[in-house]
Amino acid sequence: MSLLEVRDLRVHFESRDLYNQRRVASALNGVTFALDKGEILGLVGESGAGKSLTTLALLGLLRPPARIVGGSARFDGQELVGMPPAALNRIRGTELTMVVQSPRTSLDPLARIGDQLVRMQRRRGPVDKAEAMRRAQAMLEEVGIPDAARRLQAWPHQLSGGMAQRVLMALALVNRPRLLIADEPTTGLDVTVQAQVLDTLRALVQGRGMAALMITHDLGVIAHYCTRVAVMFAGTIVEQGTVTEVFRNPAHPYTRALLASTPRRIAQSGYRITGGAPPNLYALPTGCPYQDRCPQRAAICATPPPAAEAGGSHRAWCHFAVPRPETVDA
Ligand SMILES: Nc1ncnc2c1ncn2[C@@H]1O[C@H](COP(=O)(O)OP(=O)(O)O)[C@@H](O)[C@H]1O
Ligand code: SF4
Ligand SMILES: [Mg+2]
Repeated sequence: MSLLEVRDLRVHFESRDLYNQRRVASALNGVTFALDKGEILGLVGESGAGKSLTTLALLGLLRPPARIVGGSARFDGQELVGMPPAALNRIRGTELTMVVQSPRTSLDPLARIGDQLVRMQRRRGPVDKAEAMRRAQAMLEEVGIPDAARRLQAWPHQLSGGMAQRVLMALALVNRPRLLIADEPTTGLDVTVQAQVLDTLRALVQGRGMAALMITHDLGVIAHYCTRVAVMFAGTIVEQGTVTEVFRNPAHPYTRALLASTPRRIAQSGYRITGGAPPNLYALPTGCPYQDRCPQRAAICATPPPAAEAGGSHRAWCHFAVPRPETVDA
């Protein structure tokens, strides 16, 4: 059994238009992946693909009009979908934690760093304040914050961007969670700081036998830090496997386009990496979600592509992912 098993997760946004007609945006359309201890799974895909939404759904943080309409997410055997908020709240921040993109807005501006780390430990239950402070300091040291004893007294506004991101990591790790979700954890940091933060993250995940789900649009980061990768498009996973399997032998046309795009092109397109219009979530085509942009589209693509096994743990959801044997007429 995997630590996290997400199966066919579906999320809709429901609203009413000017004429009071019901409108449904199908933002997640059957997301399926699994994550084991010690693994770092990279989730990649263009802006709007549903990466953040996937994590919010897992953590029970979706707000109306977003709603889970189907599927399952088992964490260590417990079903997260439909779990009562109080139970989910106990898991979140202790067993299952998250680091997001903007440390400034995620830290409490009115509390010193040490106090925030103590407060986080209280989510697990009563703690001795002095003991919790000692653990807070040790955690700051572990994430590579120099002069940790003094930093316990610091206010969030006194930290640089890189330091603030490390403090967030300390907050996410102080309760020794089993799964860490990192949503674009280093976006906006300069390259050197980014590498330091990710090196620390990887060392901690592997050293403690945790698992991590890392969202990024940076394929270089995935290649360097992740063991497995899942490629997302229009609210579905279109390909997944080990980083070597997927990067050496991409089986889905979208993944191939992604890998062929240059960093300059990515910067110019605002991460809408392979060009073409973003899919309209209110009117997705039946069948393959990528068909409007796919150079290999054929008539059969109007039917949903099944998972094609491309060897090992490598899967791609495309009718032409693996060459099929020739049909022989009798
Ligand atoms: N209130 C809303 N109504 C309809 N669609 C929404 C709403 N909020 C977000 N979305 C859509 O949900 C999709 C998934 O977004 P998100 O998970 O943030 O993407 P990513 O993190 O991959 O960039 C986006 O295409 C976005 O347009
Ligand atoms: S199923 Fe068809 S449209 Fe979709 S990616 Fe494969 S070839 Fe392209
Ligand atoms: Mg996002």
